[in-house]
Amino acid sequence: MTTATATSLLFLLLLLLVSADTAISGGGGKWQLLQKSIGIVGMHMQLLQNDRVVIYDRTDFGLSNLSLPNNRCRHNPNEEVVKTDCTAHSVEYDVVSNTFRPLFVQTDVWCSSGYVSPNGTLVQTGGFNDGDRTVRTFPPCSGSSTCDWIEFPGQLSVRRWYATNHKLPDGRQIVIGGRRQFNYEFYPKSDLLATQHVHSLQFLVQTNDIGAENNLYPFVFLNVDGNLFIFANNKSILFNYVKNVVVKTYPDIPNGDPRCYPSTGSAVMLPLKMLQANSNVEAEVLVCGGAPKDSFKYAKSGRFIGALNTCGRIKITDPNPKWVMETMPKGRVMSDMIMLPNGNVLIINGAGSGTAGWEYARDPILNPFLYKIDNPIGLRFEVQNPTNIPRMYHSTAILVRDGRVIVAGSNPHKYYNFTGMFPTELSVEAFSPSYLEPNFDHLRPRIVSQFQNQLVYGQKLSVQFQVEAMLTQHLVYVTMLAPPFNTHSFSMNQRLLVLETTKVTNVNGTSSTYEIEVVTPKSQILAPPGFYIIFVVHQQIPSEGIWVQIL
Ligand SMILES: *[C@@H]1O[C@H](CO)[C@@H](O)[C@H](O)[C@H]1NC(C)=O
Ligand SMILES: *[C@@H]1O[C@H](CO)[C@@H](O)[C@H](O)[C@H]1NC(C)=O
Ligand SMILES: *[C@@H]1O[C@H](CO)[C@@H](O)[C@H](O)[C@H]1NC(C)=O
Ligand SMILES: *[C@@H]1O[C@H](CO)[C@@H](O)[C@H](O)[C@H]1NC(C)=O
Ligand SMILES: *[C@@H]1O[C@H](CO)[C@@H](O)[C@H](O)[C@H]1NC(C)=O
Repeated sequence: MTTATATSLLFLLLLLLVSADTAISGGGGKWQLLQKSIGIVGMHMQLLQNDRVVIYDRTDFGLSNLSLPNNRCRHNPNEEVVKTDCTAHSVEYDVVSNTFRPLFVQTDVWCSSGYVSPNGTLVQTGGFNDGDRTVRTFPPCSGSSTCDWIEFPGQLSVRRWYATNHKLPDGRQIVIGGRRQFNYEFYPKSDLLATQHVHSLQFLVQTNDIGAENNLYPFVFLNVDGNLFIFANNKSILFNYVKNVVVKTYPDIPNGDPRCYPSTGSAVMLPLKMLQANSNVEAEVLVCGGAPKDSFKYAKSGRFIGALNTCGRIKITDPNPKWVMETMPKGRVMSDMIMLPNGNVLIINGAGSGTAGWEYARDPILNPFLYKIDNPIGLRFEVQNPTNIPRMYHSTAILVRDGRVIVAGSNPHKYYNFTGMFPTELSVEAFSPSYLEPNFDHLRPRIVSQFQNQLVYGQKLSVQFQVEAMLTQHLVYVTMLAPPFNTHSFSMNQRLLVLETTKVTNVNGTSSTYEIEVVTPKSQILAPPGFYIIFVVHQQIPSEGIWVQIL
């Protein structure tokens, strides 16, 4: 074969690969500024089942740009910066009306964690200073009623600052680690009379780098066998939290660079696919970005090392699991990894060099990367269109029901500071992934059936939907997403299930209405109880979602 023929064959092959992909490759997505200022930094975000997002930063940032209503003020002699503060440090953002209102937190919620309980109440844990052992709940408002934070001081056994929470099959949450806490506890406590509420976790000692830590906000996922996969620094284990035993130790992530705070990378558990009735569900974890060893030390002295451009993917259910490494188009630190309704992953926000921490990063990365989970290795990343707002330390991202990704925050400074490099960012933007582009409207499913949104485990569920174009039956599926609690580039409790499809039928012989019958997850281990969003996906284009509650 001549070189010319080989080249043209190669070209043809590339063309084929590219065109096979065009049905789902869009124009790179679109950014929209939703709010120029919500008055606070979006440091922590959680979407609730009323399509409102609870957002908060910290009470010791100084005065925010949003006043508390009705001349309310917080008088707190233990507060570090302002003892009388009449500004808000939390808001409720309404996705549908694009409006927000101030909320009132009493004690410091800085660098805390949380989850949504099975009944839909946000349960936040810990923080700093006077708030480090406090639990706060936020019951979602219904109708036009207002609702606000309720605080329960001293409910945590120890201080929890930079901890990770995860929802358990019994509906409670486990709170893991935090600064100088090599242990875990549960909330609520199952037995208030038990003598031991704090359980030690040696793994957090093993992964604690002196002077840098690199094991804060560990990446935690509930595996399909009921154990927890815990990744900290460059190591991971499978952990039986009931018996307090390490069930399995995974190999260190290759090259051994740290991936957790302050070398903040991120991680997701890839979609759990319930493909056939009795097949075992496999679980894979993807860890991306972070900062090379010693970056934190260098950042402190003003040298900003290029971020890691690698991702490691591991099948945690494999009997002999191994990391498979992949290369991102660019290095990133402090990026968020967001599960999209179709099961792909969006990597968004963050910087190209440095680490998390005050003033410790440079080179904002303005382009999200789309990671297509089922493409062959080497063809998984697509660079998306950029925003013009750097989202550095203390920025967040979450998916909402209409398929957009809401982005907020960024404040690498100790206080609100609107001057200099990377000024405190109070704006909220939306990134619309390319699946929302109008040229995919003909493929987009629209859910038309009213179905019972109270689900039980292992039940049949029929969803009627319409699609303008001819339906490609084997390319339609239903996903179910647990909206996560996002802070510090990690989305706690993020979980996407691809439900088992039992049949797809044409309704009444019409050309555009279909019914897909699926089976809800079989157990609380696969899907801990609570609220999820259900999407119908066709050729990777998702419908708008519908809230359901599984109990
Ligand atoms: C916040 O308030 C400060 C001082 O009052 C002001 O300089 C700044 O422009 C405000 N920023 C925004 C985004 O509203
Ligand atoms: C919902 O759950 C939270 C957290 O467990 C609890 O504090 C609250 O009382 C529950 N609300 C209702 C209405 O049951
Ligand atoms: C993981 O990090 C530790 C330091 O925390 C280091 O000693 C070890 O060599 C690293 N692992 C690899 C494979 O490099
Ligand atoms: C705000 O940031 C600028 C530049 O980054 C710095 O010089 C200034 O001291 C900061 N102001 C406060 C009040 O911290
Ligand atoms: C299909 O036919 C049934 C019975 O005739 C009717 O009740 C239903 O509304 C029809 N559904 C659609 C989507 O047209």
